[in-house]
Amino acid sequence: MTKTRLYSGMQPSADSLQIGNYIGALLNWKKLQQTHDAFFSIVDLHAITVAQDPAKLRENTRATAAQYIAAGIDPSASTLYVQSHVAAHAQLAWALNTLTGFGEASRMTQFKDKSLKQGADATTVGLFAYPVLMAADILLFQTEIVPVGEDQRQHVELTRDLAARFNSRFGDTFTIPEASIIRDTAKIYDLQNPTSKMSKSAESHAGVIWMLDEPKVTAKKIMRAVTDAEGGVVFDRENKPGVANLLTIYSVMAERSIQSLEDEYAGKGYGDFKKGLAEVVTETFGTIRGRVLELLDDPAELDRLLAANADRAAAVADVTLAGAFDRMGF
Ligand code: ADP
Ligand code: NA
Repeated sequence: MTKTRLYSGMQPSADSLQIGNYIGALLNWKKLQQTHDAFFSIVDLHAITVAQDPAKLRENTRATAAQYIAAGIDPSASTLYVQSHVAAHAQLAWALNTLTGFGEASRMTQFKDKSLKQGADATTVGLFAYPVLMAADILLFQTEIVPVGEDQRQHVELTRDLAARFNSRFGDTFTIPEASIIRDTAKIYDLQNPTSKMSKSAESHAGVIWMLDEPKVTAKKIMRAVTDAEGGVVFDRENKPGVANLLTIYSVMAERSIQSLEDEYAGKGYGDFKKGLAEVVTETFGTIRGRVLELLDDPAELDRLLAANADRAAAVADVTLAGAFDRMGF
C-alpha cells in the first residue's frame, strides 16, 4: 500500500526555533513521518518576502535543518530539503500566479494584516504572492494532507481552489489537498504575554523559549514567566492563562496529563512548579542542542545530506511541473 503524501514547512527566519514550533510542528511531524510519505521543507523562498541578510539566511537555513533532524525528523524516512534547492517551486508559482485573481489574493487575511503593518511602500509583490508560492509547494508533490495551524487554513483553501481551477482548465494535473488542522491544545503562548502566540518573530524575546538557548537562560525565562496573584496550579485558560500555558508546555514535554501535574503541585507554590517545568524543558532541549551543535560542526556533511534530499524532492516535483507545463502549452 502506498502511504499518504504529506507536506509541511517552516521559514528559516531565526537561528533558533521556539518551543511553539517544537510542540505545534516538529513533534507532530516526527509522528507523521512514520505513517506518511512526508516532505518537510525549509522554506527560504518564503523567508525573503521580508528582507533577509544573505549570510544570516544561509546560516539560519542550516540551523533550521539541524534542528529538524535533532528533534527527530529522519532524513532517510522523510524528505527534508531546502525549498530554493528545487527550482520547480518558483516555476510552478509563476504559472499559478497567472490563474490567481488580484481580488482573491487581496482577501488573504495574513497579507492584509502584514501589509497593513508594513505600509504599502514597504509591502512587496512577493509578500502578496506568498500564498501562491505556498500553493505551488503543496501541489508539486501531489500532496494529500497539509498539517497546519488554524492561521494557514485560508491558504490551503486557496491552494485547493487553484488546483481545481487548473485541473478544469487544462485537464487533471493536481491532487486536491486537505488541511489537517493541528488541534488548538498544542498552541503555545508567550511567557510574558500569555494571550498572544509565542513566535520566532515576536518583537520582544523575553517570553520566547528558544530550542537552542543555554539551559540556564531557558530556566531563568521560565522562572520569570507571568502567572497571577491568586496562586494554585490549576488549568483555567480564561482566568489563569499564564499557568494554563505553562501546564500545556509541561504536559507535552513530560508526556504527562494536565491532571497528574495539577495533583503533583496541589498546595505548592508557582516557584516549585516552574522549577519542575524548567528541568523538563532544559533536559529535552539540552539533548537537542547538543545534537544541533554536532551537526553544525560539520556543515559539509549537512549540506551533502540536504543536497541528496533536494534531489529526491526534485525528482517528484519535476514530474508534476513537466505535466503542468506541457498542458499549458510550454
Ligand atoms: P513563528 O511564528 O515562530 O515564526 P511559523 O509561523 O514559522 O512560526 O510556523 C511554523 C510552524 O510552527 C507552523 O506549523 C506553526 O503552526 C507552528 N507554530 C508556530 N508558533 C506556534 C505556537 N506558538 N504554538 C504552536 N505551534 C506553533
Ligand atoms: Na513567522
